[in-house]
Amino acid sequence: MAQSTILPMHCKYAIYMEGNLSFKEENDMIQFKSAIKKFQIEVDEIQKKYPDAKLGGALAFGSDIWPKITTISKPPELKSINTLKYLPNTTQRDMLCHILTDHFDVAFMLAQDTLKNFGHTFKITQEVHGFRRVEERGLDGFVDGTENPEGDELRTKFGLVPAGQPHEFGSYVFTQRWEHHLENWDNKSTKYQEDTIGRTKKESEEIPEDKRPEDSHVSRTDLNEDGVDLKIIRQSLPYGTASTLQPHGLFFIAYATRLHNIEKQLESMFGKLDGKKDRVLAFTTPVSGSYYFAPSKMELMNL
Ligand code: HEM
Repeated sequence: MAQSTILPMHCKYAIYMEGNLSFKEENDMIQFKSAIKKFQIEVDEIQKKYPDAKLGGALAFGSDIWPKITTISKPPELKSINTLKYLPNTTQRDMLCHILTDHFDVAFMLAQDTLKNFGHTFKITQEVHGFRRVEERGLDGFVDGTENPEGDELRTKFGLVPAGQPHEFGSYVFTQRWEHHLENWDNKSTKYQEDTIGRTKKESEEIPEDKRPEDSHVSRTDLNEDGVDLKIIRQSLPYGTASTLQPHGLFFIAYATRLHNIEKQLESMFGKLDGKKDRVLAFTTPVSGSYYFAPSKMELMNL
């Protein structure tokens, strides 16, 4: 079975915690492995006790730390995102803890308990709280997630390593925190904004391929390779303050059967495929970036 952050849709809140692992003292590995089990147990307990909260939780690990925490072979495509030299501000971390829910209170409880259980073995470097806006719109005003694969069948197909393969029901994960600079964006015409995204703003209708710019976001990310659509499962949410006192933007997170699908989209957005860069880069900047693998529930328990 997969960890519980991949199949659910339309969650209202999320907590994304990333950081590095440290095993300096004798019992650190024991504490770490026990914290993983406690995390799984608490996720299951909350799901039973507060079903309306629709809580999901996942732990995922980076490439460099993988061989240090388990003898299970490393997922074949897993690598450090820092190797992608064209991508700005990459910050590969060892571990991601992703919690999603409709009720923030239980998510926060799980986050605090989890940090306590990992203790000094998990040195957190980024914690972001995501929330849903009305009509599932991003801070840029566009509906986010319209073309996300819907339903367990499609999400399993595009989000999970297939049954029977090594690491079955696991998933490659990509996180990237984007900071928006919306002062100029808000002054732009609707036509300019729609050309940037590649969909209409009000109804979120796709602008036909021959009518939208090649560097619109949809044209950059709706990719097909030898007749196969390169799909991913996005679980991103807006974060930050309403004012610009503190940063705000999109916490982008995607799960995928293959890291390849995510990476092709990144290459396309950042001009590596044909020299054309995504127009969204005019109003937003990535300030972090990591690749991870979220093992299946069973593999996680057996690490
Ligand atoms: C701040 C940065 C970003 C913003 C504001 C943004 C926003 C959007 C919006 C508004 C849509 C159209 C509605 C939808 O189908 O969800 C969209 C589509 C999409 N985005 Fe992003 N996105 C961002 C970053 C990324 C990144 C980094 C990736 C992948 C690496 C990505 C992959 C996709 C994909 C695959 C689609 C669906 C394309 C299609 O099949 O039509 N996005 N995004």
